[in-house]
Amino acid sequence: MLAKVEELLKEVTAFNSTVAEEVEQFRIRLLGSKKGEITALLKEFRNVPVEQKKEFGQKINTLKKLAQEKIEELKLGTENNSTSNHDLDLSMPAAPFEVGGRHPLSVVRNEIISIFNRIGFAVSEGPEIEDDWHNFTALNFPEEHPARDMQDTFFIDPKIALRTHTSSVQVRVMENSTPPIRTISPGRVFRNEAISARAHCIFHQVEGLYIDKDVSFADLKQTLLYFAKEMFGEQTKIRLRPSYFPFTEPSAEVDVSCQLCSGKGCNVCKHTGFLEIMGCGMVDPNVLENAGIDSTIYSGFAFGMGIERITMLKYQVNDLRHFFENDLRFLKQFKTAY
Ligand code: DAH
Repeated sequence: MLAKVEELLKEVTAFNSTVAEEVEQFRIRLLGSKKGEITALLKEFRNVPVEQKKEFGQKINTLKKLAQEKIEELKLGTENNSTSNHDLDLSMPAAPFEVGGRHPLSVVRNEIISIFNRIGFAVSEGPEIEDDWHNFTALNFPEEHPARDMQDTFFIDPKIALRTHTSSVQVRVMENSTPPIRTISPGRVFRNEAISARAHCIFHQVEGLYIDKDVSFADLKQTLLYFAKEMFGEQTKIRLRPSYFPFTEPSAEVDVSCQLCSGKGCNVCKHTGFLEIMGCGMVDPNVLENAGIDSTIYSGFAFGMGIERITMLKYQVNDLRHFFENDLRFLKQFKTAY
């Protein structure tokens, strides 16, 4: 047995490898808990004659220590080796990384902007914290008038509020430029509403405004038909229903033919064949005058739509809250080049 120990000592001293697997095999062969050769020798210790016990004990301990140290040392060598330049293959394709996607509301906002850009509408923006004049008074909401209750407002003080609609930007654009004006104003708006599948206290709108000489309701209707076809497809029809807004006269609500049933009637459109997408009208002469535009020379139309609503119709999303929850399973469905 002493001879066996000597033999293994030599073997351990001589052993060398940079291959992790070989080192591991070597460890198992010598020190493995079941069949390791050194392990077996240690078990034999009790059978060694008393007078040899001391020498054998010392030698076997030396062997065990040496083997353990050697294996640790070689292991380090293999780990370093695997990250050394030696193994770096510069011709390998790069590891794939996930490309993010735009939020569906941004996708649709960009699409709306692009559709109106093509017919000459520029983009304009205004502040989210707005004064009473731009959000209400200039838009022909008389003070204390019940029409102000159409929109539940977050007030900061009696004359300053979070804007309840992007119509406020119309007024700013008219105040700061001279006709012809063709502009759309996308942005975030705020209303003091309970959050549900159909309403939120923060949402997004796009306002449109066209002011020039001889602008008529027919121009408005053509523009909206063009928009509906570009957004929802060539087969789309529109329908205008008389309505009321303080800042337009006449005013109308715009419906598009239902995407799901192509206007035949289904659950989504409540069997009417149409879905409401926006409000619109001819800019009230009072509003033009409030913003310094001569209403005897110029006329114009305006419209306003909710981006969430358009997105829900286009992609058949049935709960508005999805847009604000940042659930990746929802968002990943909208990956696009836009
Ligand atoms: N501002 C209206 C709203 O938030 C939408 C709207 C209706 C805008 C008619 C307009 C318009 O410009 O002409 O409900």
